[in-house]
Amino acid sequence: MTNTKPLTRRALRQSLRAQRNALSPGQQSEAARLLSEQIQSIMTQPNSTVAGYLANDGEIDLTPTIKGCQQNGVVTLPVLHPFTGKHLLFQTFTEQTEMTLNRFGISEPALNSTAIRLLSQHHLLLMPLVGFDAQGNRLGMGGGFYDRTLANINALKNRPTLVGVAHDCQQVDELPVEPWDVPLDLIVTPTQIISTR
Ligand SMILES: Nc1ncnc2c1ncn2[C@@H]1O[C@H](COP(=O)(O)OP(=O)(O)OP(=O)(O)O)[C@@H](O)[C@H]1O
Ligand SMILES: [Mg+2]
Repeated sequence: MTNTKPLTRRALRQSLRAQRNALSPGQQSEAARLLSEQIQSIMTQPNSTVAGYLANDGEIDLTPTIKGCQQNGVVTLPVLHPFTGKHLLFQTFTEQTEMTLNRFGISEPALNSTAIRLLSQHHLLLMPLVGFDAQGNRLGMGGGFYDRTLANINALKNRPTLVGVAHDCQQVDELPVEPWDVPLDLIVTPTQIISTR
């Protein structure tokens, strides 16, 4: 008998995380290379400010993407907000940036107020995800950090394009969505560029 009951967010996270963690090092590096080419193809202007992330838990690796974006603009990385601990700040990232481990054991730029860039100063926000669907819904790791940080994104006069980046195996037909989930404008994988507008 097939189980037609939709998976809960928790069960979906578990199975999608297992799938991306099962990718071989060779598959990961090929995915990273292809993703970098895809991101270069959507960069419309020189001197773009692009938020990235350092991959963790089988997430698609942005190392080649970050190097490419740094050649022609500015790259920032998320930093846990020092006061709320529940929001993200974005700080410029170069080879000289001093890094530190945050409370989740993830490397992030050491807090430096002069290196913080506002959301409205970004052109692209590259967001990691656990799952996505072609409608632009995004399932993260479950912390709500991106959702909280982006809750008022549509009130900005200049807002970045929200780009979910992922392995192709992270796609599902239809994600369960909660009212606070902020949808993606674009999804980029090694083989697809999906515009949801
Ligand atoms: N705008 C918000 N304001 C307050 N709490 C929020 C907001 N958005 C999300 N949360 C809280 O965060 C929790 C986790 O949200 P959710 O399951 O959507 O995480 P996620 O999208 O997987 O994580 P992330 O955004 O870090 O990728 C929710 O239970 C909710 O209580
Ligand atoms: Mg969410």
